[in-house]
Amino acid sequence: MSFTIEQVKALVAEYPDFPEKGILFRDIFPIFHHPAAVECLVEHFVERIRSLDKRADVIVGLDARGFLFGPLIALKLNVPFVPVRKQGKLPGNVVSATYVKEYGPDVFDMQADSIKKGQNVVIVDDLLATGGSCKGAEDLVAKLQGNVILNAFVIKLVGLEGDKKLRAPTYALIEC
Ligand code: PRP
Ligand code: HPA
Repeated sequence: MSFTIEQVKALVAEYPDFPEKGILFRDIFPIFHHPAAVECLVEHFVERIRSLDKRADVIVGLDARGFLFGPLIALKLNVPFVPVRKQGKLPGNVVSATYVKEYGPDVFDMQADSIKKGQNVVIVDDLLATGGSCKGAEDLVAKLQGNVILNAFVIKLVGLEGDKKLRAPTYALIEC
């Protein structure tokens, strides 16, 4: 079976009151129950990234759900995948950035040798909410003198205006 991108979008599930009352949680995991849906999703992002004015040199994925499809996009583009992880999980020399989440500050790390000066980077994650996490990732790329050319998400929660925190343009498959 093959999937259209509209069928892939329809797989995103909504859970009212998770993880707490008042939050409508969007879950991308059902996409991963269907290999052909994953293929369609990845191809969609690959085409979007190929259509940019600049060539992407590196795909950066955010801990944890950016790890689900970031490496698949990087594989198709034949470029490196670089993880941004929550503090204390990456060995060796790391750069760190504090970012602000709903319930206070947190820290992201990236391995210091993972991006070279001047490389063009696309950051990927499942969801843009307040933009705090992606801003932390943008700060890490900037510390390594990389250049973020796009922040790409499956879902953007438009009302939270997360893009206003970000330097680079954003793209989302689903805006809600
Ligand atoms: C979620 C989501 C994004 C981030 C978006 O991850 O996967 O990374 O929040 O929120 P923001 O735009 O307000 O920063 P979370 O930090 O819950 O981590 P997890 O992937 O480990 O669950
Ligand atoms: N889904 C996944 N992660 C999130 C969400 C959501 O709806 N809201 C904030 N982070």
